[in-house]
Amino acid sequence: MAPTGQLMSEHRLIERMIPLLQRELSRIQATKKVDQRFIEIAVDFFRVYTDFCHHGKEEHILFGELEAKPLLPEHRAMMEELIREHAFVRGIVKELLEAKERYGQGSGEALADINRTMSILSTFYPAHIEKEDKHFFPLSMEYFSQNERDQMLEAFRKFDSSIIHELYREKVLGLEQG
Ligand SMILES: [Fe+2]
Ligand SMILES: [Fe+2]
Repeated sequence: MAPTGQLMSEHRLIERMIPLLQRELSRIQATKKVDQRFIEIAVDFFRVYTDFCHHGKEEHILFGELEAKPLLPEHRAMMEELIREHAFVRGIVKELLEAKERYGQGSGEALADINRTMSILSTFYPAHIEKEDKHFFPLSMEYFSQNERDQMLEAFRKFDSSIIHELYREKVLGLEQG
């Protein structure tokens, strides 16, 4: 399997969140009530799985290795656009979490921010994923030999296996500093 094959299979799980977000959005719009547990699970998914684990491999490994290649200017521009999109959506997830916290404290206007950020998430990911799956990933693999692709898959495996340790180390650190 090419390293982008693994990233594409992770996209399939991210995509499964989209109809769930849409269903929850319709429910919020109909009832004007927020299921805070749903948002907590969704925020955890987008922070840990999508950002830390998935964008992490894209940015730190795939894009990092591409930096060392003689990238065509249009390919570099595409990569930079993907990095900007990751930063944008990271901000949206943070806003969603903050809006959920304000909602929990009784803020009525938090509902509008929850609606806005959830609907951005539900349209952002299908477009971002299509750019990667159909355009950037196939062309990016052309820069690597079979041996380099195999090494990248191994780097992905190491990255994934370190995540749980790093995550819980951070949690302990947070408690120690709290
Ligand atoms: Fe991405
Ligand atoms: Fe991706």
